[in-house]
Amino acid sequence: MCERGHSFDVARQGYVHLGAGRKLPEGDTAAMVEAREAVLPLFAPLTEKLAQSVPTSARLIVDLGGGTGYHLSHVLPAGAHGMVFDVSKPALRRAAKRVGAVLADTWGRLPLADNGADVVLNVFAPRNGPEMRRVVRDRVIVATPLPHHLAELRATLGLLAVDPSKEERLAQTMAGFELAADDRLEWTLDLDATQATQIIAMGPNAFHGPVQAPASRTTAAVRVTTWRK
Ligand SMILES: C[S@@+](CC[C@H](N)C(=O)[O-])C[C@H]1O[C@@H](n2cnc3c(N)ncnc32)[C@H](O)[C@@H]1O
Repeated sequence: MCERGHSFDVARQGYVHLGAGRKLPEGDTAAMVEAREAVLPLFAPLTEKLAQSVPTSARLIVDLGGGTGYHLSHVLPAGAHGMVFDVSKPALRRAAKRVGAVLADTWGRLPLADNGADVVLNVFAPRNGPEMRRVVRDRVIVATPLPHHLAELRATLGLLAVDPSKEERLAQTMAGFELAADDRLEWTLDLDATQATQIIAMGPNAFHGPVQAPASRTTAAVRVTTWRK
């Protein structure tokens, strides 16, 4: 229940809807969520780096645009609580089986107290700098694709490129934080046709219609930064 007496129910599927009163952006579709769940284990180097970046003393970790809670559930220290904030109901239904799950637009004011989260995670998802600064106590851990992420696969299919100004925009969004760690991970993905198609189907290209990808060998390239408050 909020300070003004409004009450919020836990949906049958296990998440809490705190997006009341505003038009919510489109989150990932059921098909995108299903494709992402299938291929997330191929991103183990990323999950491991995120886990190393989370201090074991953290008690509440919030993942903004956290999708199905896959990464968050793998990086939670023993005894810590995890909460995913997302607008995708299909993603939240899965997240609720792993961690706390909240339907909320992360571009808006987050339903969290000032300094309420020890750690904020943000993995391939929208970033609201002022709200991250308000709610985090210790650090924000951000994962973004590097320009050559999935380059070979994208070239084969003639698909959208990663925005080259991403690094500059990240620095602007995180102004006021101290950049405490900056890691660039790179590994090779050997994908069969199903996995290659799923990797495309889980990303921004999915909004432009279905794509069938051939079996491919491609580079995964991800930047993981830690920003201290
Ligand atoms: C590329 S996915 C990444 C999901 C997750 N972080 C992962 O790595 O598995 C981006 C996520 O951001 C969510 N999203 C997009 N816009 C959002 C918004 N305004 N508020 C909350 N979540 C949003 C999508 O629904 C989706 O789950």
